[in-house]
Amino acid sequence: MDIQRIGVIGAGTMGNGIAQACAVAGLDVVMVDVGQAQIDRGVAAIDGSLERLQKKDRISGDARAAALRRVRGSTDYGELGGADVVIEAATESLDLKLRILWQADGVIGKDAIFASNTSSISITALAAVASRPERFLGMHFFNPVPMMTLVELIRGLQTSDETVAAATAFAKALGKTPIVVKNSPGFVVNRILCPMINEAVFALQENLASAEDIDNGMKLGCNHPIGPLALADMIGLDVLLAVMNVFYADFNDPKYRPAPLLKEMVAAGYLGRKAKRGFYRYDK
Ligand SMILES: NC(=O)c1ccc[n+]([C@@H]2O[C@H](COP(=O)([O-])OP(=O)(O)OC[C@H]3O[C@@H](n4cnc5c(N)ncnc54)[C@H](O)[C@@H]3O)[C@@H](O)[C@H]2O)c1
Repeated sequence: MDIQRIGVIGAGTMGNGIAQACAVAGLDVVMVDVGQAQIDRGVAAIDGSLERLQKKDRISGDARAAALRRVRGSTDYGELGGADVVIEAATESLDLKLRILWQADGVIGKDAIFASNTSSISITALAAVASRPERFLGMHFFNPVPMMTLVELIRGLQTSDETVAAATAFAKALGKTPIVVKNSPGFVVNRILCPMINEAVFALQENLASAEDIDNGMKLGCNHPIGPLALADMIGLDVLLAVMNVFYADFNDPKYRPAPLLKEMVAAGYLGRKAKRGFYRYDK
């Protein structure tokens, strides 16, 4: 499949990151969002990120300018009509995504690959609104997209082998490394990562060791680049709690119960870096 033109729905953190990765790979991108202000912010974020890459000598001045020229924004879903791949990266809400996908489905080409970057919503449920559900899959990029090389490709029940093969080739063309996983809550990476962090919170709650020692244990003993509690502070403890609650409810399995200390921290407003306090303090 010849992939040249990409449509990205949502110009936020992930949408502009995906748009940037596509533009740097030489593809033409249209980013669709609800208003000009959101689009302008997205384009400015791409510009800033490309500037930082140029300062680090990871991209030339010419390549930076060419990449920026390949990205345009629009508030008109009709602009998605010519895209070979359409990736939905809008706000994480089932109702909103169903509405967006239904709207986009009416304009996109019949052979286009149709993907969602959702981190938690069922790909099978999203594919069900597409008129060609076999062309639909999850493409779960990681933040920040220009730096992180993984893409989880999630097969819904309806996704065809051809679609997975085309998405695999597309991800590789972006310089990413795809892994193919079946649809299931949290897919693979968050399914493993979030319970591990939750277990670190249990260890802290049980006073097995200090937060610093728990994190050092995983950094020095397992070669993790960052300890689980410091990572929880980066992700946001409210986000982590929401994910564990989804696992607990969807799998009906007590092994996913959120650590009581995690709930206490969220109730106190100690949400991590964004609140300047989580398992560590960031206000000093
Ligand atoms: N932030 C992360 O670390 C991360 C990582 C992987 C996946 N995700 C997923 O990516 C998606 C986007 O997350 P984000 O962090 O970029 O959010 P964000 O809030 O930064 O951006 C969301 C964008 O969607 C736009 N939007 C809302 N309604 C829209 C509509 N009807 N049409 C077009 N655009 C619309 C918003 O205006 C906003 O610009 C979510 O599904 C999220 O779960 C996020």
